[in-house]
Formats: sequence, structure tokens, C-alpha cells
Amino acid sequence: MSDESRPSPTETSAGTSVETSAEVSAEASAADRPHARTAAVIPAAGRGVRLGPGAPKALRALGGTPMLIHAVRAMAASNGVSLVVVVAPPDGAGEVKSLLDAHSLPERTDFVVVPGGETRQESVRLGLDVLPPEYDIVLVHDAARPLVPVDTVDAVIDAVREGAPAVVPAVPLADTVKQVEPAAVPGEPEPVVATPERARLRAVQTPQGFDRATLVRAHGTVTDDVTDDASMVEQLGLAVVVVPGHEEAFKVTRPLDLVLAEAVLARRRLNDGF
Ligand code: C5P
Repeated sequence: MSDESRPSPTETSAGTSVETSAEVSAEASAADRPHARTAAVIPAAGRGVRLGPGAPKALRALGGTPMLIHAVRAMAASNGVSLVVVVAPPDGAGEVKSLLDAHSLPERTDFVVVPGGETRQESVRLGLDVLPPEYDIVLVHDAARPLVPVDTVDAVIDAVREGAPAVVPAVPLADTVKQVEPAAVPGEPEPVVATPERARLRAVQTPQGFDRATLVRAHGTVTDDVTDDASMVEQLGLAVVVVPGHEEAFKVTRPLDLVLAEAVLARRRLNDGF
């Protein structure tokens, strides 16, 4: 992408001005700095077609509040996070900025909005490009996981502070998983190739946490399509570790997930009432 076409960050009223693209020394890992500052990048530029027709997924309401606002609040709920970068749909940065301005958010956190790209990977990279130099730890959190509890966010940050270059929250699987040879025609029976031992499998969630220099290097090196950022770090041959995730950090993908998310919010409201 040329400098002319590179999107410029959009400042929110609670935000701060942000310089574009900071080069970070690979030697200066987050583990060297126990009080390293943490920024969260939230890719929210997807359309969410599996959820059915309607607004982009991140802007769908849950309990009357857009999913993206829940996700932003979930990151800002951690005392460790002092900057949240929201990666908006390419043509929707203004709308997302207005949305953040219209909702109450913690004052001790800065918020920045940038336009996203064609793929999730590109959207994350565009978010990384606007991080100021003083941030040594980066969380990447899907807007589609609006209800992740703050304890999970803190556990990820702590593990990066303790020296892991990449940390993913994950949960054991309830279902047995089969590897198949995908059918050429959808709906046709598919031959099973293998059955991995379920006890050794984990379903991976977000936020995923990274030593910033490691994640920037991964995004600059790995060009294969990936579905999560940690697998890019694996491709660099670096260690990725798992910490316990949470059942409420599930991804809102299909219509039934919206029903579950509403139920979780209702349960929280009930518990808050006592
Ligand atoms: O499509 P999927 O559910 O895997 O998307 C995960 C996250 O990546 C979502 O929060 C979505 O908004 C985001 N995304 C993005 N830019 C894209 C595609 C997806 O920020 N081009």
C-alpha cells in the first residue's frame, strides 16, 4: 500500500493523537519490562455474513448496545489496557467513531478508530500500524467476542508480561473432532481422515496477547491466510502458550449465538441486581 492510500487514524473525543507505524526493536521484549504498557486492537471490519442479512456484525445490538461497544468495554475493563484501537469497516470509520463517542467509556483509556482491510489479517495489520511506540504488549480481540470477562483479559496480559511471546486463551472441547477430506459437492458424505485425541485439543478464543515486536514481525513475514494471529507466531517457530479461556468468551457467528449472548447478559444483569 502506498503512503498516500494508507488510512489515517481517526481520533475520538476520549482519544489521543497517534503517530503512524512505530518500529520496535526485536530485542526489547515485553518480558524485560514488567510494567510494559498494553494496547488492544479490535478488528471489527468483517460483514458477518453467517449471522444473516442486516448491519455489519460488530454493529448488531446485544441487550440494546452494539456488539462492538461490548467488546471495547471488555478490553477497557482491564486496568492493564490503556489504549484501544478499533479497526472499522473500510468505509465505516466515521460511523464507528460516532458510535464510540455516543457511549460511555472509561476516561483513563484512549480510543482510536482506523479503517480496516479486505481480510482480518490486513485489518489487524492496519491497527498495528497506528500503535504509538510506548506500547510493548498488544492484545488482538475479535469484536465478535463481546462478552469476554476481564479475568481472562488480565490472565493473557500477565502471561505476556511473564515472558511468553504469544498467549492464547482457550477451552477444552465438548465435541469429538474429525478431520475429513472435504467433499467436492457440499452436503455429500465426507471420508474421515483422522480423529485427534480430544483431551489434547483446545478451542482458541481472543484476546490473544503478544510481545509487540513479535507480532509486528509475524505480520511482516507470514503471508499465508490464517484465522488467528497466534498461528502466524507459530509459523515463525516461536512458542505460543495457552491460558484458560472462558465459556462467555464465545464467538458470535450464527443467529443462535445471539440468543446465547442475550441470555448471558440477562444473567449478568440479574447477578448485578443482588
Ligand atoms: O469472520 P470472522 O468471524 O473470523 O472475523 C473475526 C473478526 O475479524 C471479526 O471481529 C471481524 O469483524 C474481523 N474482520 C476484520 N476485517 C475483515 C474481516 C474480519 O476486521 N476484513
